[in-house]
Amino acid sequence: MSHTPQVGILMGSASDWPIMEHAARTLRDFGIPWEAEIASAHRSLDKLTGYAAGARERGLKCIIAGAGAAAHLAGVTAAITDLPVLGVPIDATSLKGMDALLAMVQMPGGIPVATFAIGKAGAVNAALFAVAMLANDDSEMAAKLAAFRQQQSAKVKAAVLPPLDPID
Ligand code: RP5
Repeated sequence: MSHTPQVGILMGSASDWPIMEHAARTLRDFGIPWEAEIASAHRSLDKLTGYAAGARERGLKCIIAGAGAAAHLAGVTAAITDLPVLGVPIDATSLKGMDALLAMVQMPGGIPVATFAIGKAGAVNAALFAVAMLANDDSEMAAKLAAFRQQQSAKVKAAVLPPLDPID
């Protein structure tokens, strides 16, 4: 695989990175070149517009967009590019990510955002979904994904519960 980033990871603020780094770590584990940028739909719309408009031409296959609050990042990105956009709602306000989840998942018909779980699980799963999309045209990646799933399954099956505390 080339070193050209295949997946773009966007986030609305540097404060989203502790969650979004889990997407980056997952992609790294699969050997997928990625890039990460901070671009806000509200606070740096010009940067977001330029990034999304040039994304396909630069070789990206999809964009993972993580944002919290009134999260328009994923939707605006999907409005600009027809690359698949995978949205990760972030818990950043007193509404605990429900605000971002609803903003991403309730896109109007015609401009899809594939929306994942709030927080770390969503970041990991968005990256795994990107892996699965890339694996459609890459047998080596498909084998890595199958091995990951098999290892995950084996780990769950091998899990042992701890004994109860002894009675005094
Ligand atoms: C959103 O507002 C960001 O994606 C972030 O989740 C949230 C809070 O941003 P900061 O105030 O921490 O920069 O746009």
